[in-house]
Amino acid sequence: MCGIVAYIGPREAYPVILKGLKRLEYRGYDSAGVALLNSGLKVFKKKGKVAELEENTIGKDLHAHIGIGHTRWATHGEPNDRNAHPHSSNSGKLAMIHNGIIENYAQLKQELVRKGYHFKSDTDTEVLLNFIEDIKINNKCPLEEAVRIALKRIVGAYVIVLIDQDNPDTLIAARKGSPLVIGIGKNEHFLASDASPIIEYTKEVVYVNDYEIAIIKADELILKNLGNERQTPFITKLDMELAAIEKGGYDHFMLKEIFEQPTTIYDCLRGRLDAENGTITMSGIQKYADQIVNAHRIVMVACGTSWHAGLVAEYIFEELCRINVEVEYASEFRYRNPVINKGDVIIAISQSGETADTLVAIENAKSKGAIILGVVNVVGSSIARVSNAGAYTHAGPEIGVASTKAFTAQLAVLTMIALKIGYEKGTLPHDRYMQLARELEAIPEKVTALLQQHEHIKQLAEKYRDARDFLYLGRGYNFPVALEGALKLKEISYIHAEGYPAAEMKHGPIALVDETLPVVFIATKDSYHEKVISNMQEIKARKGKVIAVINEGDEQSIKLADDVIIVPEADEILLPMLSVIPLQLLAYYIGVSKELDVDKPRNLAKSVTVE
Ligand code: M6R
Repeated sequence: MCGIVAYIGPREAYPVILKGLKRLEYRGYDSAGVALLNSGLKVFKKKGKVAELEENTIGKDLHAHIGIGHTRWATHGEPNDRNAHPHSSNSGKLAMIHNGIIENYAQLKQELVRKGYHFKSDTDTEVLLNFIEDIKINNKCPLEEAVRIALKRIVGAYVIVLIDQDNPDTLIAARKGSPLVIGIGKNEHFLASDASPIIEYTKEVVYVNDYEIAIIKADELILKNLGNERQTPFITKLDMELAAIEKGGYDHFMLKEIFEQPTTIYDCLRGRLDAENGTITMSGIQKYADQIVNAHRIVMVACGTSWHAGLVAEYIFEELCRINVEVEYASEFRYRNPVINKGDVIIAISQSGETADTLVAIENAKSKGAIILGVVNVVGSSIARVSNAGAYTHAGPEIGVASTKAFTAQLAVLTMIALKIGYEKGTLPHDRYMQLARELEAIPEKVTALLQQHEHIKQLAEKYRDARDFLYLGRGYNFPVALEGALKLKEISYIHAEGYPAAEMKHGPIALVDETLPVVFIATKDSYHEKVISNMQEIKARKGKVIAVINEGDEQSIKLADDVIIVPEADEILLPMLSVIPLQLLAYYIGVSKELDVDKPRNLAKSVTVE
């Protein structure tokens, strides 16, 4: 949610910042802007994507060795030029970018207005900036000191980066709740919301912690806490290659990421699952294995697609480990005073590792004595760091706003944890454990085979692209897949879609069925198959159009359905990793056929760092 980039050093700042903003555009694309310091402060900003900003700066004097840039996902104030970041202060000397929300901005604004400050935008950011400027002027103190004083009064989440015309060789940054990475180069520093704008210049980074202020010159990085005490920067080596964040010949990141799934699932299993010898090695989980085995309750906490992965895992854990599992929307869990007993295990599932609701939910649960396990994709992210332990999904950077490869990697990790715990607990017999381990190992190959049907799915997309609504139905392990299929279609194609447990359809949604409604059944061969076929018949009796995701040789479904997509067979526990893939492709191709920006669907952002 909002991407920030900054640079200080010998290079031209503008091209570094612009390239960085393009890499971070998945975090928000309502507007983009840069502020550069040379002989004075210059701010360029524009509603829309980074390309609009780029076009708007053609022919302008952009020379500078220090600058800040921002790509916005609007919270306070509509997306327009005025509300775009960077904002400049009333004196015109300070400029600031911000990712987060300042909750008490209205009160601060009133105080500032009484003092004669005026505001050009509707944003909370401009209020915080002028609040800092006011402190700086009144206390006659350096900017760093003013920031520290201001932040003590701030309620909310932020990463801020400021430049000051009176001090043109220093960037000041601070973080609470939103991510900030600093890349350490040779006499230069790069700041960004994640490592993708930094990776091509340096692999040495510092993840700034909450309540830290960074004072950054070209050749020096000082970190301090809000009590003005120096902190030692902890330098981490990035384990990421530039190719991972480029499209690599695909039309869109989403398509690339769908097609990467055989590799990402394999990478996720690699070094952990040894099906031949029947071992699963997950050091983070092993440390807490006894507590998980003895836990009375596991709560999965997540949002969006990650929440759907939690729902699949609920079925798997209950089946294999016989532990009571609840799956919670993080946004509800964090506010409703949930009962948490010492020893409860909370599994936080998150691609970005920065989702604000999930982060706060686990912080609350941790303070009440729960053990937090993170199933996270982005290494070093906030959720990973707050968790007691966990397992990374190793899916590599996911840039398309719609989550695809992260989902199947989450399922792979959660399945391995369930297998491990069920086996150690004795609720999963040896033979079944070995069979599931072998089948899990074979999933990447099956995904490869499945992806070969992309042309067929593209044709289905053409056929159904003009539908106004879609229904997705599945049962058991495939019920969350129905939810996920519907979510993908909504976010990519803007077609209204709903997912339901197939049997629940009779309790209301069936009223929607007529000859114009496509109903996608996830009807693979599992314990619910016969029941799903009955549900399919009920839809056909009302003239609905049936698209069935089935296994080979399912003659009953083939007879009933208008169209079928065949997925390879697998144990029902593992089927979601396969059955979701045609739904990802269907959403993708419908979005493309409608000429929509599938990588950056409207109103969305990849990383939701505001609640
Ligand atoms: O980074 P997270 O997994 O915590 O993100 C959770 C959701 O915001 C995310 O899954 C969202 O629903 C995606 N747009 C789904 O495609």
